[in-house]
Amino acid sequence: MTQDNRRVLQNDRFLKVLRGEAVDRTPVWLMRQAGRYLPEYREVRAQAGNFMNLCMNPELACEVTMQPLRRYGFDAAILFSDILTIPDAMGLELRFAAGEGPVFDRPVQDAAAIKALKVPDVHSDLGYVIAAVEHIRAALGDSLPLIGFSGSPWTLAAYMVEGQGSKDFAKPRAMLHEDPTSGQMLIDKLTESVSEYLKAQIRAGADAAMIFDTWGGLLTSEQYLKYSLGSMQKIVDALKADPDTADTPVILFSKGCARHINAMADTGCAGLGLDWTVELGDIARQVGNRVALQGNLDPAILNAAPEVVRAEVQRIFASRPNDCRHIFNLGHGITPGVTPEAVGAAVEAVHEFGTYS
Ligand code: CP3
Repeated sequence: MTQDNRRVLQNDRFLKVLRGEAVDRTPVWLMRQAGRYLPEYREVRAQAGNFMNLCMNPELACEVTMQPLRRYGFDAAILFSDILTIPDAMGLELRFAAGEGPVFDRPVQDAAAIKALKVPDVHSDLGYVIAAVEHIRAALGDSLPLIGFSGSPWTLAAYMVEGQGSKDFAKPRAMLHEDPTSGQMLIDKLTESVSEYLKAQIRAGADAAMIFDTWGGLLTSEQYLKYSLGSMQKIVDALKADPDTADTPVILFSKGCARHINAMADTGCAGLGLDWTVELGDIARQVGNRVALQGNLDPAILNAAPEVVRAEVQRIFASRPNDCRHIFNLGHGITPGVTPEAVGAAVEAVHEFGTYS
């Protein structure tokens, strides 16, 4: 165990729930809690020039990580970065085109391109992310836990083969059917990359690691278990096998995959993210107290009036069993158009209704 793994924090509700310990109140943080809905974020992004410059500047990445913590009573910070840093470091040349989302100038189009891909060197190719983690850790001091993160191998592969965002990621799905050997090779290279990336974030000061598998729900069940959950299992195992990271909790978030909840809960992860389409109480009864559950307010509700947000937060709490290990969050990220007031209403409602007696 390293010094960092023994870090004593003033507010450790989030980590306690992941460890299965009792807390006074349900911890809360929100996916995309730093971002465009905050005017102070837009100001710093303008100063940086664009989103990737912001990610690559450790001081500015630290500043935007801290911004939502100054406004709201969140129980965790999340590293400000993106999941697509790994493919960029593999040479695919990521850019965010205005109004278009992410684009790779050099997508992976055939088996030869997959063979040629190199696992990035975390410290030389992704050193800016590790530096951001160090800055954020120093800025947080012992106040709050810091969540590090990565995309899942399948979700990263989906963007790398498609070359951009997509509703159905038909190209990478066709590739898994047509050339499973190359598909597995791509997933394997990403599995090694993600494992090393998360270990480096933890060594630099992250207290937990979350894996975003945004597109797991697009796969057939067999493919999900083989390529997506299978690779996340290897990452969980790799972190557990390293004394520096063995005690760091891992949260898996496979959107649209609740039908696989038992298999996910058996990976040895500490927590599972839930999207908003499932009932927290139903899932809690299926997993028992094997893992913590993180979610699952519908992000669309943040466009509704504050009293509507408050009532839905209350309903989610009423639906969960008493012994539910719960971290309050959204079922997916905050969308850009919401107001800072709507986010405040959600957090306040968690503080109001999320106490354990
Ligand atoms: O949660 C946080 O606050 C931490 C920061 C974070 C970002 N992206 C910042 C970001 C995290 C955890 C991510 C993860 C991410 N990135 C995922 C997985 C989670 C999910 O939302 O499904 C995915 C699929 C991506 C890829 C990505 N990055 C897309 C598709 C886009 C464009 C869509 C959009 O919202 O603009 C991004 C850009 C991005 N990543 C922004 C932010 C704050 C917006 C950039 C801007 O300032 O314009």
